[in-house]
Amino acid sequence: MKIDVIHKKKSDIDKVDFSDIKFGAFHSDHMFEAQFFEGSWKNFKILPFDNITISPACTTLHYGQTIFEGLKAYKNKDDEILIFRMDKNAKRFNISAERMCMPNFPEQYFTKAISELLILDKKWIPNKKNTSLYIRPLMIALDPFIGIKPAENFKFYIFTCPAGNYYSEPVRVKIETEFTRAIKGGVGYSKTAANYAASLYPSVLAQEQNYDQLIWTDGKTHNYIEESGTMNLFFVIENTLLTAPLGDTVLDGVTRDSILALAEDLNIKTEVRNISVDEVINSINNNTLQEAFGAGTAATIAPIKTIGYENKDYDLPKIDSSSLSSKFLDLLDGIKYGSINDNHNWITKL
Ligand code: COI
Repeated sequence: MKIDVIHKKKSDIDKVDFSDIKFGAFHSDHMFEAQFFEGSWKNFKILPFDNITISPACTTLHYGQTIFEGLKAYKNKDDEILIFRMDKNAKRFNISAERMCMPNFPEQYFTKAISELLILDKKWIPNKKNTSLYIRPLMIALDPFIGIKPAENFKFYIFTCPAGNYYSEPVRVKIETEFTRAIKGGVGYSKTAANYAASLYPSVLAQEQNYDQLIWTDGKTHNYIEESGTMNLFFVIENTLLTAPLGDTVLDGVTRDSILALAEDLNIKTEVRNISVDEVINSINNNTLQEAFGAGTAATIAPIKTIGYENKDYDLPKIDSSSLSSKFLDLLDGIKYGSINDNHNWITKL
């Protein structure tokens, strides 16, 4: 893959206050673009970040044939670029692509495109604690065709944003028992727009009740915990770390997977199994729930302070430095910022 580079004439970096970075609000100077037509990927370019032109009739806008990813890059103390688990995001992107009838974007193209873009926009990668460069690859379908069939023409983009915390403090979440994010046989495991669009209305209703996010339950019975939409979920009950299994309805989160690997390293008793709402509520009531937290690329590790269920709020124990979520956060941060050995080969250093 040969990438043509068109440099931005004047950087926008002075417009960003790096001491208080709002998540997703600013874009770095450049973006990557590739085109798929006549059965293959071509015209690889890095160019100044800008608006794009698409037909109002295009498949993405009407029928939602679109996918995306989210991953992060960091700087170590020697000012080198560290990218966290880029290969896993590349694989997940192609799992999403298959489900949405979109072409595979080869893993070596994915990693090369990100690496070249980051080298060019290196000064955009923040270097303070709790900051990173959020990397957003996406693919859109372009056929200007009204009718339900997979497109034949696509574009792939990557743009990046300097990022601070997604959640600035422990979150209040509501167990959702009316609306459904994903069902068996659906697209819940794919990082496609439909999952996020479907979550907006119930999330807004929950925000009106002062919750930050929802805990999605299974679409059939609403008795079992699935994920939170912006993150996977973990509970610590009687010193056992619990998380729901993957499947059609749960995104295979990279942070989730990393926590499970670290839990194994630390010999923490872990169970990946169905978790019922009753089990969570009973464990809060009888004081056996020690902590609950979300895990996602944007959210990193987000401790849960309150769970709302059937019009009642349940406050969880306060997190401190001995909590498992704090330990996982410290370990993950250490690996991501290069101060702890990367025993799992998760980091690509540029
Ligand atoms: C991510 O964690 O990368 C996501 O796409 C979730 C979104 C809340 C930003």
